Parts: sequence; C-alpha cells; structure tokens
Amino acid sequence: MRTQVAIIGSGPSGLLLGQLLTDAGIDNVILERVSKDYVLSRIRAGVLEEGTVGMLDEAGAGERMHQEGLPHDGFDITFDGRRHRIDLHDLTRGKRVMVYGQTEVTRDLMDRREATGGVTYYEAADVTPHDFDGAKPYVTWKKDGSDYRLDCDFIAGCDGFHGVSRRSVPEAAIRIFERVYPFGWLGIVADVPPVSDELIYANHKRGFALCSMRSHTRSRYYVQCGLDEKVEDWSDDAFWDELRRRLPADAADNVTTGPSIEKSIAPLRSFVAEPLRFGRLFLVGDAAHIVPPTGAKGLNLAASDVRYLFDGLREHYADRSDAGVDAYSAKALARVWKAERFSWWMTNTLHKFPDSGAFGQRIQEAELDYLFHSRAAMTSLAENYVGLPY
Ligand code: APR
Ligand code: PHB
Repeated sequence: MRTQVAIIGSGPSGLLLGQLLTDAGIDNVILERVSKDYVLSRIRAGVLEEGTVGMLDEAGAGERMHQEGLPHDGFDITFDGRRHRIDLHDLTRGKRVMVYGQTEVTRDLMDRREATGGVTYYEAADVTPHDFDGAKPYVTWKKDGSDYRLDCDFIAGCDGFHGVSRRSVPEAAIRIFERVYPFGWLGIVADVPPVSDELIYANHKRGFALCSMRSHTRSRYYVQCGLDEKVEDWSDDAFWDELRRRLPADAADNVTTGPSIEKSIAPLRSFVAEPLRFGRLFLVGDAAHIVPPTGAKGLNLAASDVRYLFDGLREHYADRSDAGVDAYSAKALARVWKAERFSWWMTNTLHKFPDSGAFGQRIQEAELDYLFHSRAAMTSLAENYVGLPY
C-alpha cells in the first residue's frame, strides 16, 4: 500500500490533520491501535478556543458543535468564600470559548472522515514507523494475523502520550521536559443540570474543584485528590459532599446531585518533547506534549500543531516548498510553551500544594488578590484562556 501521509492515531490530532489533508486532495491513511468504539468511550476536557472552532469548521466538522455547543463569555474563580467573574468577552474585546466535549469533536471528525471516503485501519497492532530518517519512510502493523506495510512520504505521529511514534526516536535525538504534580483530579459526569451557566474554578483550603458541563442537562465536575486515592473508595455521595464543601455557599446550595455515569482519577503532568520533527516523522498533539487540564489547553494545542503541520504539508505538495515543513517544530513549540506556562500557572494558582508551606500559601493568596484587583492581570489570564493567536 502507498499513501502520501501516514497518520498514526485516530484521536483529535490525527482526525483533524487527516480531514484537512483529504479536503486538500492529499492522500492519507490513519492507523489506530484500538477500536472506533474504544476511542469514542474516552472522556476528556471540553473547552474549545476560537481557533479550534475555526479549524473544525474548516474541516467541515463544525455543524453539530454550533448547534449543541455552549458559547461561554466568561467563568468564575472562587476563593475564600467569594466568587470573581473573569469576563473573557470584555477583557479580550469580543472573544469567547465554546464548551463542547472532546468525545463529540472526535465523533464529528470520524463521521466526516467516513462521509468523505477517508481510510482508517482500526485495531492495528504493533504499528511501527520505519526509515523516517531517509527519503522512503514506511509504517508496518499487524491485524488479524496478517502483516501490513504502508509506504509514504511523511509520517504524522498523532498517537498520544503513550504512543509508539515518540518512542521510535533515538533517545539522544530528543529532549524531554517534565513536571509531575503531587495530586490528581477525580472527575465525574452526571446527568444533572450544571450548578451554574458558566464554569467555576474553585481554590479552597481542602483543595481545588471545577464545575464544568457538557450540556444544560449533563454536568462534569472535578475535585483535586491525592495520587494514592482509589476511585473505588469514592462513592457518589462522598464526591458530592466534597464538591459542595469546596464551593461558596450560594454555589454549593445550587448543586443538583445524581448518579455518576463516569468516574475516574487522572494524574496532572506538564511534559514537552523537543524537537517535533525527526526527518520525515512529525510529533503532533499529546504525542509531543501534555498540559495539566487546569487551563483546558490539551485539545487546543493539538489543533494548533495541526494548523502548522497541515500548512507545511500543503505547501510541500502544492507549492513544492519545504519552508513550512521545516518551520513546523519551532513554530509549534513556541505556542506549546506559552500554553505550558499558562497551564502551569493556572495549576499553581488554584490548587492546594501539600509541600508549599506557609510561604507558598501566602504567595498564592497574593497572586489571587492581585489577579482580582488588576485589570492587566485579568486580561493576561483572559487572553491566554481564549487562546493565543496561531
Ligand atoms: N498505534 C496506533 N495508534 C495508537 C498507538 C499506537 N501504538 N498508541 C496510541 N494510539 C492512538 C490512541 O488509541 C488514540 O486513539 O492514538 C490516539 C491518540 O489520541 P489522543 O490521546 O486523544 O491524542 P491527540 O489526538 O493528540 O489529542 C489530544 O487528547 O489527550 C487529550 O488532552 C488531550 O485534548 C487533548 C487531545
Ligand atoms: C471539562 O469540561 O472537562 C473541563 C473544563 C475546563 C477545564 C478542564 C476540563 O479546565
């Protein structure tokens, strides 16, 4: 088999890149380790920057998002029993974010790929990129006892944090930057109306909490928890009690409880691999970088990587210029690091750190006091939250 671009991974990165390529007449094949249903069963964050919304539109996958997604003009930060609104719309001169689950984004992109004849091989085992240092890279995999080979011009490693692409690069060629945080998020989904029309990020002495949503009837809530905690030890009642304790009274009184339909614990990590290009192999999205979810940047960074890589590949095929492909790593990393900084800052500002001591506690209080009383500080938060320009 032969294609122009072999894409490893059918998450948002691989699907979005694949769709833009297909629409531009550039042949591509996606190889995915698990089944379509398994990919669609993953629940992740749900806040889209305008740039991401624009790219989904460009890929012809934005229709349902505009019907069912919830545009948000601001969010609240609570601290010390008080609620402070960050007016994104006012602070950024008219920008907003779209609340729409990543699972739905993935489903819309999969539907669009099917409708436009894009080829995806699901349940492809032992996917391996080869010879990306030379001019003739290829990818091999196994399925149902047979061996397959796909020759290509380029390989896009869109296979997430645990994927094979980054692991295929010699250790000496790659530099890793990492911070692991000393806590996790326990998250639930429940079919109950959200506590508020907008998101609430809560800094509380018992730990961070976040009230988010998927629709007017489905809520997504998180509480900061210890890394050694087990999801089985958290009953729904215990979760609701802990969430309410971490919210100011007016919000706590408004929490509608109900049975959880999903409950899981996720660790928090900052991670960047440099560079993002190794000959004819590119790393894209979570394969290259991870942010803690506090700034809701994961999916949005995947989208900006795809923007730069797609533009580079289109230039390669349409204009016979490699300028864009050559610039991919540096351009994408410049934006990635700013989102890493922002996500790290949001995480530091809103969580309880077990080892920060009295000094760290006072610094955090000063940070929040400054934020709530300085339009410049709030503007900085707002412009990062809605997304820096590409
Ligand atoms: N071979 C083929 N596919 C693989 C392999 C492999 N060895 N390893 C992983 N995959 C697949 C996974 O099964 C998954 O479907 O690659 C896909 C990667 O998807 P994501 O993890 O969703 O990563 P990405 O597409 O970059 O999306 C980034 O996802 O994790 C969130 O917060 C993150 O929102 C961000 C977004
Ligand atoms: C979510 O809705 O899952 C969500 C929202 C905002 C975040 C993280 C997660 O910062």
